[in-house]
Amino acid sequence: MAEIIDMMTQLKESIRQDTFVRLTLSKNQNSDSTLKKVLIKLALIKNQKQLSLVYRHKTKDITKNFPIEAAYQEIEKLMRDTLVIFNLFTITADWSGERSADGKLKLKEQAASFKELPNRTHDKTKKRLISGTDYLKALNVLDNSGRVKKDKGDKYKQINKFVEIIDGLVRKNKDLLKKDALQVVDMGAGKGYLTFALYDYLVKTAKVNAHVKGVEVRPDLIQLCNEVAEQVGFENLKFELGYIGDYELPKTDMLIALHACDTATDDAIFKGIKANASLIICAPCCHKQIRREIDDKTEFHAVLEHGILKERQAEIITDTIRALLMESEGYKTKVFEFISTEHTGKNLMIVGERHEREVDKVAIFEKIASLKRAFGIGSHYLEELLV
Ligand SMILES: C[S@@+](CC[C@H](N)C(=O)[O-])C[C@H]1O[C@@H](n2cnc3c(N)ncnc32)[C@H](O)[C@@H]1O
Repeated sequence: MAEIIDMMTQLKESIRQDTFVRLTLSKNQNSDSTLKKVLIKLALIKNQKQLSLVYRHKTKDITKNFPIEAAYQEIEKLMRDTLVIFNLFTITADWSGERSADGKLKLKEQAASFKELPNRTHDKTKKRLISGTDYLKALNVLDNSGRVKKDKGDKYKQINKFVEIIDGLVRKNKDLLKKDALQVVDMGAGKGYLTFALYDYLVKTAKVNAHVKGVEVRPDLIQLCNEVAEQVGFENLKFELGYIGDYELPKTDMLIALHACDTATDDAIFKGIKANASLIICAPCCHKQIRREIDDKTEFHAVLEHGILKERQAEIITDTIRALLMESEGYKTKVFEFISTEHTGKNLMIVGERHEREVDKVAIFEKIASLKRAFGIGSHYLEELLV
């Protein structure tokens, strides 16, 4: 029976002889960890060989690059403590194995799946999804020479991440790309950073005839955004003064609501559902309505004794019910962190993709009812809108 050290020998040999293609470590033995697997490839970074480890968690990937020797230590540690299956691919053979509780490995050698080495060059030049800089300068994100302003780094990251998510979604929902005119509404557009970037991406990168409208309650922002849109020649990007709850939504394919306050997010989701939007994308913020509704005397009272925990609990319940209600209306939902918490606290995103499959509404409503019962909640604002 082999040991982890034998697997490490195969790995090291393949790097030394330059036959290494990739290594995957999987099957986390610690059920309380979100790490699912680690994908390892060899990269040439500034002409130095490094191993690039992508830690694949349930909802996000984290990439870390290690010098070779440090990477060996990290991989060995992962194999000993966390992940029990490895699959090593080289151009001479594939090696696989699973570590048992006593640290032994069944090492299996098979014919090589790959005949050629992958490109080792570390692709630092990520494909840019937004091309325009004029609007980012006008909105004070970039300075006149195109550099990100000191205090706008987080905003800039958020803009790019948001566009990356949109890119993934529209590529998945290809019908959207084929539309003669794609109708997009951004509710609570604010200063329009994300609205402009979205338009830029859809029109310039995805080459869609997109008509994007930002709805906002502050007239000063409407004026500013319309001026900038005209200045940079975004002719089908318009900003309109409006209160989300009262706004008459025209035909809409994609409904966006990012950080619209409290129940404004529910108003926006409701409008999107009623407009039969193919995609509803929202990043909720301040969950006051459910916070007020939660009964502090239920069996979960201990969780609610500390203000911050009650706030988090309110967020979780509010957004869980939002996602369930969207599902009951024929949307497949995903809830995830769209940017790391180090850049913004408001980082949760709910995405709903409309589908035509049948929905078990009774089961969904039972889930909602049981959650409400558990926390003594009388009503959820979106639920009230939908009845
Ligand atoms: C926190 S900002 C977010 C701006 C932008 N969506 C973003 O994520 O960068 C929220 C914006 O929504 C607007 N807003 C809040 N409630 C609204 C409502 N009911 N109708 C229209 N706009 C609203 C606010 O005026 C503010 O500009």
